[in-house]
Amino acid sequence: MNDFTYQAPTKFVFGRGAVDETGSELAELGYECALVVYGRGSVVRTGTLDRVLTSLDKAGVRHAQLGGARPNPEVGLVRDGVAAARADGCDVVLAVGGGSAIDTAKAIALGVPYGGDVWDLYMKKAQVVAEGKLPVACVLTIPAAGSEASASSVIQNDEVALKRGLSTELNRPQLAVMDPELTFTLPPYQTAAGVTDMCAHIMERYFGSTGPVPVTDQIACGLVRSLIECAPRVIEDPEDYDARANIMWAGTQAHNDIAGLGRGAKPNSRAGGWESHALDHELSAHFPQVTHGAGLAVVMPAWMRYVWRSAPERWLSFGRDVFGIEPVDVVEDCIDATPEEAIEDAVLATIDEIQAFFCSLGMPRTLGELGVGAGDIDALLETLRQNKGAEIGELQRLTMDDCRRIYESCL
Ligand code: NZQ
Ligand code: ZN
Repeated sequence: MNDFTYQAPTKFVFGRGAVDETGSELAELGYECALVVYGRGSVVRTGTLDRVLTSLDKAGVRHAQLGGARPNPEVGLVRDGVAAARADGCDVVLAVGGGSAIDTAKAIALGVPYGGDVWDLYMKKAQVVAEGKLPVACVLTIPAAGSEASASSVIQNDEVALKRGLSTELNRPQLAVMDPELTFTLPPYQTAAGVTDMCAHIMERYFGSTGPVPVTDQIACGLVRSLIECAPRVIEDPEDYDARANIMWAGTQAHNDIAGLGRGAKPNSRAGGWESHALDHELSAHFPQVTHGAGLAVVMPAWMRYVWRSAPERWLSFGRDVFGIEPVDVVEDCIDATPEEAIEDAVLATIDEIQAFFCSLGMPRTLGELGVGAGDIDALLETLRQNKGAEIGELQRLTMDDCRRIYESCL
């Protein structure tokens, strides 16, 4: 188990009706004016925004509004938000939505004290500063990205077709209001993409280069088992409160770092190489209509099939703990199988199960289903190289040629 430092500053208010407590929670924290950031209209249609604004009014918290954060949010809206927060004298940025609204809010909060263009922070041309940075709060409406407690924010710049992450402890929200009933209105595709993203957050950490850390590995596998149990229930019955609630909390645990502690390859680093996220982010950079979780459903199993030989024992333990797959079971009827073949069969059966789970929820299997073709791969690799350098990966270093083969295997 490797060393780590972990600080989780977020206050969670979780449960039925929690959304109506947003104003009093912010007032209790001492805030007087919130910039309310939301997406492209779901929170208006569902009445969630009204409930939040009413609770702010009741608690005497003034507010300004900024709607329009699209999935794979764009830096243009962040710039508008920085200007609005300054003009209105806001002392907190309150996102009402999912990862896209929350990441926009995080970027605005970091941008307020910075004199230059906020995109510089994402390009690492300027350092984030704590002084003058606004705190972030959120009302979560879709469990998926885990941004409600994560240290990350991911923003896209359409002009240069780049999607960049910025990780800093300053990003962790101070308050997360999590009301599972708000997620009853999610379309099945978004529910499924969210669950896939959570699984990916757990698996990116699990399939890193560090050896077993039983306490953390069991948290990871337990979370995935819970998602496998609960996800079909909400696809069947979108108003299954208990399943919605379990998925919502799993999404937070998947990405608040608890599922990777002690597994960081370097001291205080996040566990895992995040190869599938790197491959997926290029898909949405070029095709913003590609939902993050759907892209992951395609590239993650392909990455696994490409690299598993670097640590077969990780896939064997995951297969055993999540799916009950044992190498001997797989080769029961095959008396000629060598141990190596038995291991390979068990690993590949595990990866097949992972992919089958994503597909069973309605996620795609191929790049073609996302509207991405062989002719697009050069452009994906070009921005991947700009973003990450000539090689990516932790478990196995991957050149751009390796990444090309992975993309090609998903066509
Ligand atoms: O825009 P609106 O109209 O609000 O609709 C949204 C959007 O179309 C809709 N939706 C949300 N809540 C709803 C709802 N529809 C009906 N009922 C509700 N209750 O769902 C769609 C997706 O919303 P979005 O916020 O884009 O989803 P998600 O939470 O998956 O966020 C995706 C973004 O987060 C980034 C992704 O790259 C992507 O840009 N990520 C952020 C991370 C982080 N900050 O830690 C980590 C992740 O790995 C990820 O990269
Ligand atoms: Zn993700």
